[in-house]
Order: sequence, then C-alpha cells, then structure tokens
Amino acid sequence: MNLGPRLALSSGLVMVALMGGGGILQSFGSVLVSSLENGRQIYRFGVTAEGRMVENSHGMKGVGCAMCHGPDGRGGSMHGIPVPNITFSFLTDPEGYESETGRRRPPYNEETFKAAVVAGIDSGGDPLHPEMPRWTGLTAKDLEDLLDYLKSLGKPKPPIPEGPYVL
Ligand code: HEC
Repeated sequence: MNLGPRLALSSGLVMVALMGGGGILQSFGSVLVSSLENGRQIYRFGVTAEGRMVENSHGMKGVGCAMCHGPDGRGGSMHGIPVPNITFSFLTDPEGYESETGRRRPPYNEETFKAAVVAGIDSGGDPLHPEMPRWTGLTAKDLEDLLDYLKSLGKPKPPIPEGPYVL
C-alpha cells in the first residue's frame, strides 16, 4: 500500500487548519483589543476610539468618567458631592450600596447600568444627582465597550513586568 499521497494530503490539511486557525485567532484578538480600547478612551477622555466626542448633558467635551470617578473607577468626590465606585464588581455587589448622600440602591446588572449612564436612573429606579452627566451620545456598542472596560478595572492587576516603561 502506498501511503505517500495520503500523508501529503493530511499534512496539507493540518497546514491549512493551522494557518486558518491563526487568522481567526488574530482577528478575534483585534476585536477584543479595539472594544476595550474604545471603552478605555470613553472612560478617560469622553471620546470614542474613532475620535467622536460623546454628547452629554453637561456639554463637556474631551472629558470622560475618569474626571469624577477617578482613573481606576473607585470614585471620590467632585464639587463637594460624593462620587461612587463604578468598577463593575462593586456595582454588582449583591449587598447593594448606600451612598454618602443616603441614596440606597440594589445591585446593578448590565441593563440598569446602561440606564444609569444614559438616563441617570439608578438600579432602584431613583434619579441620580444632576452632577452625574447623562451620556446621551453613547451607541449600544459604546455602552458594551464601556462595560467591558469597567469589568477589567475590577480585576486584580497583573504583576508589572520590569521597566523601562514607555507610555
Ligand atoms: C462631572 C462628574 C461625573 C462624571 C464626568 C461622570 N460621573 Fe458618574 N456619577 C457622578 C456622581 C456625582 C454620581 C453620584 C450621583 C448620586 O449619588 O446621585 C455618579 C453616579 C454614577 C453611577 C451610579 C452609581 C451608583 O452607585 O448608583 C454610574 C453607573 C456612573 N456614575 C457612571 C458614569 C460613567 C460610565 C461615566 C462616564 C461615561 C460617568 N459616570 C461620568 C459624577 C460623574
């Protein structure tokens, strides 16, 4: 029996599978990177990865969530008003949360989070303080990307590899 052609055929298939698989992995990777990057830019600068300013009720331009909620999402205060932690793990904590202003709310889910950001309605159906802008310029995809970014903020930070670091 001559196995030569069969072997050649099967190793050819393996090659195609490897190359094809690599392509799929590569494009999957770039989708993940660009979604997180879009979320990060909105979070930090109020501008999408494509450079679109996100319209909001304060008329702020080039300013994102980070200005009030902090670079790592843990909150603080702005104009004397307490600003809550909005990392996704904190928002979805089953205990819920009572803010320093006395507003009590149940845990968020993805849908109630979107209502808070776009319409200023919290997870308990109460209006948020007007200091929190209503981000009317976010598309459905922007909101998903922002969510992904807030989820990534809640994860323990990976160990920092040795420098020098270039930003
Ligand atoms: C100008 C300051 C400011 C900016 C900018 C801002 N926020 Fe807020 N945000 C607040 C304040 C203040 C509150 C608390 C309101 C309250 O307690 O009624 C808040 C509340 C929230 C809440 C509700 C938290 C809870 O526990 O109910 C979410 C979610 C939120 N912000 C998301 C965002 C996102 C996402 C962005 C960016 C797209 C953003 N915020 C930008 C000030 C800001």
